[in-house]
Amino acid sequence: MSAVLDRQPLANQPLQELDEWDDFVATRYKQGKSEEEFRNYAHDANPRVTEFYRQNHRYQTLDFIRQKKAEYCGLTRGQKSIWEMADYLNTLVDDSDPDTDLTQIEHLLQTSEAIRRDGHPRWFVLAGFVHDLGKVLCLYGEPQWAVVGDTFPAGCAYSDQIVFPEFFADNPDSKVPEYQTKYGIYEPNCGLDKVHLSWGHDEYIYTVTRDYLPEPAQYMLRYHSFYAAHRHGAYQHLMNDKDKEMFEWVRKFNPYDLYSKGADRPKLEEIKPYYDDLVAEFFPDKIAW
Ligand SMILES: [Fe+2]
Ligand SMILES: [Fe+2]
Repeated sequence: MSAVLDRQPLANQPLQELDEWDDFVATRYKQGKSEEEFRNYAHDANPRVTEFYRQNHRYQTLDFIRQKKAEYCGLTRGQKSIWEMADYLNTLVDDSDPDTDLTQIEHLLQTSEAIRRDGHPRWFVLAGFVHDLGKVLCLYGEPQWAVVGDTFPAGCAYSDQIVFPEFFADNPDSKVPEYQTKYGIYEPNCGLDKVHLSWGHDEYIYTVTRDYLPEPAQYMLRYHSFYAAHRHGAYQHLMNDKDKEMFEWVRKFNPYDLYSKGADRPKLEEIKPYYDDLVAEFFPDKIAW
């Protein structure tokens, strides 16, 4: 169990570790699972995951999201290299069962190595390597429900394609009629860039890296947890043509995130030179976080 998470009041941190959410999503979309089996997700979820979603859906209000963007998206927390951030994120390592649990860097490398094995372009491999660095929000003191979880738009009606939609009844935004129409505060097909998604590690890592990565990679990072859209096709009415085109890349990325966990443990010392070159090709020594 992460030492850092242990120090936080457990009453408000339902997951034993952040990866419990990732594991739940991977189980939900297990390869070959039928649509009917998928619909049992609520039944199959462990109580910690259910409680996590209860909090996530309740507290992610439009006001909260705007507040967090103002707090973090100015990137005023200083300068760090990608490797420094990865080492920092790795302090979230689960040490209760070091034989089976992956470190954060190992998950990143399993994802990126699977992409590399399939012969994808270097920027795609790099997107895999950095995609979860935004989870450092947890180390900044953010509660789990503001770091991980399926993302969803606020300020408009909640899609029933979002997991545990019933928990939105506790979200104060559900009582604001203006936020509960199909388009809410948005214009038809206004483009997702104008839409406020629930706050978490996707938006943060996108913001940190956006100036250095090609557009398809930006989409992969920004929307990789937006399952209602990339898996279930919800919210097309807010997307513009560019979004629809770019979501092909988000869909291409998703299996590497979900299904690379069973792969061999990456041997960092062997592959480090490749990743040093890759990081240096796209990023300066230090970037603003
Ligand atoms: Fe993620
Ligand atoms: Fe991931």
